[in-house]
Amino acid sequence: MTHSYDFDHFTDKRRRAEIQRLHQQANVMLGRELRLLRTLGLAPQHHFLEVGCGPGFLTGAVATLIPQGRAVGLDLSSEMMAVARAVVAPEHPNLGFEQGSAYELPFPDDSFDFLYSRLVYQHLADPLAALAEARRVVKPGGRVVVLDIDDGWLSLHPRCPTFDTFNERIIQSKTQQGGDRHVGRKLAWMMRHSGFSQVQQKVEAFTSLDVGLEAFLQLTTCFKAGLLDQATAADMIRAIRSELASTDDPVGLAGIFIAIGTV
Ligand SMILES: C[S@@+](CC[C@H](N)C(=O)[O-])C[C@H]1O[C@@H](n2cnc3c(N)ncnc32)[C@H](O)[C@@H]1O
Repeated sequence: MTHSYDFDHFTDKRRRAEIQRLHQQANVMLGRELRLLRTLGLAPQHHFLEVGCGPGFLTGAVATLIPQGRAVGLDLSSEMMAVARAVVAPEHPNLGFEQGSAYELPFPDDSFDFLYSRLVYQHLADPLAALAEARRVVKPGGRVVVLDIDDGWLSLHPRCPTFDTFNERIIQSKTQQGGDRHVGRKLAWMMRHSGFSQVQQKVEAFTSLDVGLEAFLQLTTCFKAGLLDQATAADMIRAIRSELASTDDPVGLAGIFIAIGTV
């Protein structure tokens, strides 16, 4: 099954930058995500699985909320799992990391109370297959939470034309690779279509007011350069900075879509 994010084939320099970005990105939303999990009933004895956990920053934070339970992080990338095992796992006795695919989870049916996936479904060519597999490993009554972006919400005001053109090109490139930068708006429909009950859809805004304009650009733009020809991407990012330098106090906005379903 194809996917459009292959950390194992990044250069060492790009891997280091990506881990740093994922850390920064995890911190932006972490408090809100942990609050949501508590509201949904995450309890100290629960078994929790994060699919596509990357370096495992959220998985580690959840492990501290379930001291009598167990947290497992799973990711397709063996290199990502090596980082998670070295950096996050040693701090939590009830946390493990396993390499595996969202399409074939290496767990028996009904293994977990919660399954969580953040910023993974945008990379999947067959998100419905991943949801069916999520449903299989979660116990009846358990919850599946899928969080992702939708570039329909990605904007700067006052408008920055090169930012818009850059993101249009990224959307096209991602689609060609088998991903979907508009997956956010589709998550609730996909959950209903996959047989989940009590499906809910939330949208959280993440803005440059939260993190500063430079960090907003890093988180929403600069890391995508690898999806375009290197020279074109560098030229466009320079043009974005130059347009923003002459814009009156721009504010950036990104939408984070969160779909919740019960098994
Ligand atoms: C942008 S990263 C997000 C990582 C982490 N969830 C976070 O928010 O920091 C996307 C992750 O999804 C993983 N991934 C992509 N396709 C996958 C699949 N089919 N099964 C499991 N993981 C996958 C990638 O290896 C990568 O670590």
